[in-house]
This record gives sequence, structure tokens and C-alpha cells, in this order.
Amino acid sequence: PTPIVLDCDPGHDDALAIMLAAANPAVDLLAISTVAGNQTLDKTALNARRICDVAGIGGVPIVSGARGPLRGPAVIAEDVHGQSGLDGPQFGPVRTPLTSADGVGYVRDLLRGQKRPVTVVATGPLTNIATLLRAAPDVADRIDRIVFMGGSTERGNSTPYAEFNIYADPEAADIVLHSGVPVTMVGLNVTHQALADDTVLSRIGALGSPLSRICVSLLEFFSETYRELWGFPAPPLHDPITVALLIDPEVVTRVHARVDIELTGTHTRGATVVDLYNRTGRPANAEVAMQLDAERFWDLIVDAIATLSDH
Ligand code: BDR
Ligand code: CA
Repeated sequence: PTPIVLDCDPGHDDALAIMLAAANPAVDLLAISTVAGNQTLDKTALNARRICDVAGIGGVPIVSGARGPLRGPAVIAEDVHGQSGLDGPQFGPVRTPLTSADGVGYVRDLLRGQKRPVTVVATGPLTNIATLLRAAPDVADRIDRIVFMGGSTERGNSTPYAEFNIYADPEAADIVLHSGVPVTMVGLNVTHQALADDTVLSRIGALGSPLSRICVSLLEFFSETYRELWGFPAPPLHDPITVALLIDPEVVTRVHARVDIELTGTHTRGATVVDLYNRTGRPANAEVAMQLDAERFWDLIVDAIATLSDH
């Protein structure tokens, strides 16, 4: 299995990324680190623990990292994920502990201690990963690849051109993309192909477990916000695509391209500038996901929930 660290800001779709990473035998989930993003750090860390509770995920350390971006105030997405960051279902008192509040240090030591390079999956703002690469440059060699959900080859969702994870910390994204570590970008151009429509909801609901009911409730809440804010017919399940492509490379097609982050634009700060036609002549620094095989993707998600339902 591919060893991974999942850095996330749960978050409805992050929650499903955690479940997929924990359930599927093709990946070995070494740790979950959390970052401020969809909600404050305290809430995203609590939510990661809640998901491990309800999904019966034991023995995976959960650590918390950055409270805000490298520059400026924290941007949270309460309008999308609600006051708790995971609105919809009711959760009982949390049982899974927080292993460390020095998440970046924890991941640094974990990477240094592994025999083989680890894949870092990031589904929130890239603050923890950028901080890690800056503070401990030696770990770059210990990372096989960084697969992140963020950006787009097209338009944004936080602003007309910027996607939330990049908009929330553009400087961090800039550091990651120019770190020399192999990078895969999973942007809105591909995640908007993963719509959790009624067919998907019925498949998950048909599993008939407490966990499947929690997942349906999460997706129903997500569905409301996507209808209200963006007029979507169904909510896109962005984050788990990062994990899915490690399990089954056929889940997405990819191209190599130059990707830069707009840091100073008057209207476009946080935009991912993807040179799909190599107009700059500059070397590619990223693999960019393009086309989703939605059927394969949803099979992986439903299988993961089914597996965890039996715990
Ligand atoms: C990204 O922003 C968050 O709201 C989601 O969890 C996802 O990581 C989509 O733009
Ligand atoms: Ca996220």
C-alpha cells in the first residue's frame, strides 16, 4: 500500500477523504493532520476526531497544525460547511484523542522516521505543508509526491478566479508548487465532475448502517449549500479524489503543466495560473488532473463506507 499523511480541514468532503484513506487497503494512512480552513483549527481538529469515532478508525494519530495562513487573517468557509464545519449530523461526545498540537513537528518526525518516501495528501489550505517544507527542507526528499485539492484550470469558487484552498493561503500554495517535490493538482475543473446526486445518495443510504446515515446527512447539508450559493444541482465531492487517484490511477486523466499562483492580482489573488498550452515555455512543475471517471470514483466511495460500516 501507498503510505500517506492526510492534511485536511474537515469539512464535509474532507470527512469522506478520511474515510476512503482509512478504509481502502491500497493506502496506508499514517497520520491525519489538520489545518484551519473550512472552520477554525480547533473545530477542524475536533471534526477529524469525530469522523474517526463514527467510522471506527482507530490507531491513526490525529494532530493539529496551523491556526491561520502564512500571511494575513484566517479565511474560513462557514457559509459552506456551517458553524461546526461539519453541519448536518449529530455527533456524540468525542472519544478519539488528539495526539499532538504540534502537527507540523509531528509530521516532520514521522517523515524522517519512515523507511520509504511518503505521499502527502492535502485537502485544505497548504499552510502546514509549506511550513514544514520551509522549516525542515530535508523532508522534501522524504516525500514521494504532494497530491492536493485546490485551484482550477478554469474559474474559482471563493472569488471568480480563486478556489478556496488556494485563496485561503496563496503564499503556502506558491511554496508547495515551487518546492521541487512532485505535485499533483486536483482542481475544481475535475472535482466539479464528482456530483453527489440522488443516485449516489441512494447507494450510500442503501448500506443501511449508522455510518451511512451520517454520510447521507453530511451530503444533504452540502447539497443545500451548493444549491443556495452556487446553484449546483448536486454537491461536488472535491477532496476524496486526491485519495482515489492514489488507489486507482484510472480515476483521473492528467496532463503536465506549469502552474503558478497569482499572489498580487488586483482581482485574482489566489488564482492558479495553469499553462495548459505551454505559452510561457517554462518547464512543467505539476501534474494536473483533468477528467474524472465518475463511476470508478463513486464505487470507491461506496465501498469505503460499506467497509467502515462493518467495524
Ligand atoms: C475545497 O474547499 C473546501 O470547502 C472543501 O473542503 C474543498 O477542500 C473546495 O474548494
Ligand atoms: Ca477541504
